[in-house]
Amino acid sequence: MDIDSIIDSSTFVRLTDSEFEYIVQFVSQRYGIDLSQKRRLIEARLAGELKTYGFTSYEQYIAMLKSNPASDKVDNFINKITTNYSYFNREMEHYDFLMNTIIPALSQAKKSTLKIWSAGCSTGEEPYNIAMAVDSALGFKRNLWNVSITATDVSTRALSVAKKGEYPEAELTGMPEAWKKNYMVKLPNGNYQVKDNIRNVVSFSKFNLMDPFPPKIYDVIFCRNVMIYFKQPTSQAIVKKFYQCLAEGGYLLIGHSETLSRTDTQYKYIRPSIYQKVSKQTSI
Ligand SMILES: C[S@@+](CC[C@H](N)C(=O)[O-])C[C@H]1O[C@@H](n2cnc3c(N)ncnc32)[C@H](O)[C@@H]1O
Repeated sequence: MDIDSIIDSSTFVRLTDSEFEYIVQFVSQRYGIDLSQKRRLIEARLAGELKTYGFTSYEQYIAMLKSNPASDKVDNFINKITTNYSYFNREMEHYDFLMNTIIPALSQAKKSTLKIWSAGCSTGEEPYNIAMAVDSALGFKRNLWNVSITATDVSTRALSVAKKGEYPEAELTGMPEAWKKNYMVKLPNGNYQVKDNIRNVVSFSKFNLMDPFPPKIYDVIFCRNVMIYFKQPTSQAIVKKFYQCLAEGGYLLIGHSETLSRTDTQYKYIRPSIYQKVSKQTSI
């Protein structure tokens, strides 16, 4: 159960129907996130924001958002609204697929560049895990490869945690011992930080998946546990945009609980949550 839903909500300022409708529309159109069934969650998550600004109603809060459409006030709002839950070695099968299928196939095709996009990277565990998987798969050949991992999210709060790359020891429980030893360093405060050779491969930036995509081509796109918050037409539109950004033979990896409609997709289904772009019927 989400922590917000178990907090006693009786003390929260209540949204009127029209305020609720406004926030649902604003978030859906601008960020794709569907909050139509999340009235109490919005109230719980924004209670602190109202307090910070000294507002006694959502009318005042919404007026502030409207008058500052591109400001850090809107960033703070979306930081509260997004769910940034992530952890190391989540859905490990994808990292295994990267190490045991994708990289060997690229190697066999005599390629030595690898461009990966972690879209909806949250607090950084996913892109760092990708970098660790790549490093351990390439081994002593790592220096012969040009590897880049682009990691984006709409939450500036999540991105600042990600850029720091520092996590409490408890967060490393699912990480293989060899990765912990090779890629994490223990800090004097007891936390662990991702080592520089892994951090240097990952570049973080703010990006909203609802915006037009830059004209870049990736070998692999991870977009896991992001589109579960979107309505189907929004997800379908984003999945189509990913297709334009994938190299021929490239892969789209989505969360284990997510699926692409088999009838309405250009991708080849490989296995649950793994799809490939094979428009020319070739394989990397
Ligand atoms: C639950 S986390 C998933 C993190 C990671 N991919 C994983 O599987 O552990 C979902 C992330 O998607 C981000 N997100 C939601 N809507 C977005 C949008 N429109 N553009 C970019 N990121 C978005 C959220 O900020 C959040 O950090």
